[in-house]
Amino acid sequence: MAIGVGVFFGGRSVEHEVSVISALQALHGFDKEKYDAFPVYVSKEGLMYVGDALGEIGEYRDIPALLKKSRRVIGVQEDGRLLLVRYPMKRFGCSVCRAADVAFPVGHGTNMEDGALQGYFRTLSVPFAGSGVAASAVGMDKHMTKAVLRDAGIPVLDCERVDVKTFFRDTESVLRHLEESVSFPMVVKPLNLGSSIGIAKVSKAEELREALETVFHYANAALAERAVPCLRELNCAVLGDPDSAAASECEEPLGAHLILDYSDKYLSGGKTGAKGMSAARRKFPADISPELREEVRSLALRAFHALGCRGVARVDFLMDGESGRLWVNEVNTIPGSLSFYLWEPTGLSFGELLGRLVDLALKRERENAAVAYSFETNILSGLAPGAFGPKNASPGGASFRESSRSGGSEVPK
Ligand SMILES: Nc1ncnc2c1ncn2[C@@H]1O[C@H](COP(=O)(O)OP(=O)(O)O)[C@@H](O)[C@H]1O
Ligand SMILES: [Mg+2]
Repeated sequence: MAIGVGVFFGGRSVEHEVSVISALQALHGFDKEKYDAFPVYVSKEGLMYVGDALGEIGEYRDIPALLKKSRRVIGVQEDGRLLLVRYPMKRFGCSVCRAADVAFPVGHGTNMEDGALQGYFRTLSVPFAGSGVAASAVGMDKHMTKAVLRDAGIPVLDCERVDVKTFFRDTESVLRHLEESVSFPMVVKPLNLGSSIGIAKVSKAEELREALETVFHYANAALAERAVPCLRELNCAVLGDPDSAAASECEEPLGAHLILDYSDKYLSGGKTGAKGMSAARRKFPADISPELREEVRSLALRAFHALGCRGVARVDFLMDGESGRLWVNEVNTIPGSLSFYLWEPTGLSFGELLGRLVDLALKRERENAAVAYSFETNILSGLAPGAFGPKNASPGGASFRESSRSGGSEVPK
């Protein structure tokens, strides 16, 4: 029987539309003999919908009309599967619209790629593809990513983190501090967004102020780092899990000096073409020496493992074209178009890549099943009646210890 795969996308993220493109590419890329893949659209309000029309890119020209043709659902776990249940439920008859053996997130940005959706699946106890909660959360926060990578000995650019409240409370001293510690020209970016949204390269104080104000339109924290001169960019994807992972071919995105904007990356396939990242201007394979290619691939693998990623992630590098110095810039735990195009020279088709991601999700589930999440005995069964009443409640849980002892249960440390 075909494996049910719920492809989750959209969501409360400024990269909502990008995710629609990536997700529909994936949806149509699954081998139909082996997988029953179906779309689960998360609206910008955080509501979930299923329905066939959600799988058609043209329908997204008019989202309110599309949602009228679709069915609002809630997720319920039963026997380890995720049931998408009509909401409000029917009074009579079955309300289950679709069932997923594996949830397959193809969302970008906040609430979809940052561990929130992954946490939802974990809480429900359903298998899901891609990185887990912690790797997703760290990968989405550019400051934390750098901290973890630096700790693993992987080169990253130094940066300053600026909090929105500090900035507006003490603008002049923040600007002065950045000028001294980072120095111009510098790049300012939101802490936790992607798709180049809100990013600017600035060369003087007034531009810096404006750039930070723009960032704070989208995020509560910003990152400032020095602008890499003679910039070249290199990207490399990694597929696998902590046991075993492999690096893809490398690409070089072009027009880097302009700071790629959203339309460059995602709309170059034309309004209806929706080719996503695969159509962005780039040199592929990257025109680099075999030694540099190996360095990039080996650093990408190390970054993947340092963050504890699973599934497919794309590791992006910045390089000073003159000195040849290389830094990991970011790790995308759900890369645009799932970076399928980076695997093609290795002989892995999009369909096979998707199959591997499902296999990895099921493997993690088997590993999780081996971990105990509860004690054989219910330690609360020995609680004395009324032990947790208002009279007994005391700071530090003393009444709990007392009553547990009197009930003969062991309190775990
Ligand atoms: N320190 C930097 N120096 C020069 N260019 C940079 C720097 N940081 C980012 N950029 C440019 O901005 C683009 C987007 O920045 P990035 O950190 O990758 O954010 P996003 O998550 O939005 O992709 C990069 O692809 C690169 O072209
Ligand atoms: Mg980037």
